[in-house]
Amino acid sequence: MAIEIGEVGSSKATLFEDLGGAEKIRELVERFYDVMDTDPRAAGIRAMHQKDLTEAREKLFMFLTGWSGGPSLYIERYGHPMLRKRHLPFPIGESERDQWMFCMVRAMHDIGMEEPMVVRLAQALWQVADFMRNKPDADNNAG
Ligand code: HEM
Repeated sequence: MAIEIGEVGSSKATLFEDLGGAEKIRELVERFYDVMDTDPRAAGIRAMHQKDLTEAREKLFMFLTGWSGGPSLYIERYGHPMLRKRHLPFPIGESERDQWMFCMVRAMHDIGMEEPMVVRLAQALWQVADFMRNKPDADNNAG
């Protein structure tokens, strides 16, 4: 019983709410693509994206809003995300996954996100990013 009462404040809110809603997700996504666009450590995945990142920014904002428990903006506009299928044209291995996560974690820090939230969000997004892998890594690293 006591456990249930204790959990009310924290575990009932959605990730969307805990993050600070659409405004904060927008800020995170803007910073994420700014980092990808400028940090040499993300050059590999930057090259996969279109020159103009406007559409990518809008789509990731819409997707993350629904994914975190907010309004289903992406689905309403584009239908089921089928995220893995949509990423198949891009060769994604461990390096690309790690570059993506690097941009995301740096963006979280840059916008001043509190550390426990950084850890929680990074863990959840890592699962998604790891699921995007679609090429073997042994080939890249060998010899
Ligand atoms: C793992 C490494 C990843 C790489 C290398 C990658 C790369 C890309 C690229 C190249 C595009 C096309 C953008 C363009 O046309 O300019 C894209 C689209 C997209 N990505 Fe990723 N991505 C990764 C992970 C993720 C993750 C983890 C998420 C979500 C949490 C995500 C969400 C999206 C969305 C929503 C789109 C738009 C899809 C559409 O409607 O066309 N991506 N990604």
